[in-house]
Amino acid sequence: MADKITLSVIKADVGGLVGHTSVHPDMMEAARQRLGKVKTKGGLSDFHVTRCGDDMELIMTHGEGPDNEKIHKLAWDLFVECTEIAKSLKLYGAGQDLLKDAFSGTIKGMGPGVAEIEFQERKSDPVIVFMADKTSPGAWNLPLFQIFANPFNTAGLIIDPTMHEGFRFKVVDVFENRSIEFSCPEDLYDLLMFIGAPRRFMIHEIYRKDGEIAACASTQKLSLIAGKYVGKDDPVVIVRCQSGFPAVGEALEPFAFPHIVEGWMRGSHNGPLMPVSFEQANPSRFDGPPRVIAAGFQVADGQLVGPRDLFDDPAFDEARKKANEIANYLRAHGPFEPHRLGLEDLEYTTMPKLMDKLAARFQREA
Ligand code: 13P
Ligand code: 13P
Ligand code: MG
Ligand code: MG
Repeated sequence: MADKITLSVIKADVGGLVGHTSVHPDMMEAARQRLGKVKTKGGLSDFHVTRCGDDMELIMTHGEGPDNEKIHKLAWDLFVECTEIAKSLKLYGAGQDLLKDAFSGTIKGMGPGVAEIEFQERKSDPVIVFMADKTSPGAWNLPLFQIFANPFNTAGLIIDPTMHEGFRFKVVDVFENRSIEFSCPEDLYDLLMFIGAPRRFMIHEIYRKDGEIAACASTQKLSLIAGKYVGKDDPVVIVRCQSGFPAVGEALEPFAFPHIVEGWMRGSHNGPLMPVSFEQANPSRFDGPPRVIAAGFQVADGQLVGPRDLFDDPAFDEARKKANEIANYLRAHGPFEPHRLGLEDLEYTTMPKLMDKLAARFQREA
């Protein structure tokens, strides 16, 4: 049997052009050059560099397995190099997501987001990498539930005998640094109780009942690493498709509903997640609204055949229109909740300082 292949998606915001809207082409080029050299030397099977808003994504295939030091260091060094370019051009938030000074074994916990899966290539292996900007990892909870647990979304849960058993969901509690597994459909309601609170409970991995990995999402929370607001942890998720997994169209379907996610303007507002083509992944209105792109690949002997720009489809026009309507509606709330995030979410921003400043002016009410 052929060796297993690892698909690693590692991402970071290391500087925006202009503000937080996009990535400079020189940074993209530097990333491609560096990964190209490593591929030539046999250190990578293949790679694709892309971006969603101001977040740069490295999509890499290799035989080293997940959590590999060499691969993580490659990504870290590349982000450091791109930070230097960003600094030289005085791009906004240069090095924003690089929260630690020195690399030590794994990129996890250092700021960048990571999603990795290892699998035996099938006869044909379609995967989708979803990438978002101006939101946070909990944004995937709703679509992942739809894709892997809701038969009204995913006909395969009923029709495909290999999916009929359902899937296992690994959910992390990012506040307590622990995780729990739910098996669906048995634990459906328990699962929903947790993932319906996406700022704390995030779906990290999904497995088929035979143990095969089906999806993996980045769940790094920057504010919990840094202890203060440092930009949003714009997330990625890998979803495997077809033949025992959801069809490509089943994986895309939930995004026809632009659900409300956190992370818009200063990471402090709720807004609709708008599915867009690669070219339209430039959140500018009020630094948003939040965006998601979908890059489809066929993995063939470790090569990434693609990408196909899967939201580049007029069938998603209505979702974009709806997202704009929701954006108008929410924006009209200005600084009021629920457009602005709840107080718990502002604990890393202005609120504690303001409280301190005004402490003496508070009067005890009878
Ligand atoms: P094919 O018969 O082309 O594989 O399509 C099956 C499917 O999953 C379509 O959604
Ligand atoms: P990013 O997390 O994408 O850098 O956005 C930060 C922000 O403050 C946007 O208003
Ligand atoms: Mg930014
Ligand atoms: Mg971003």
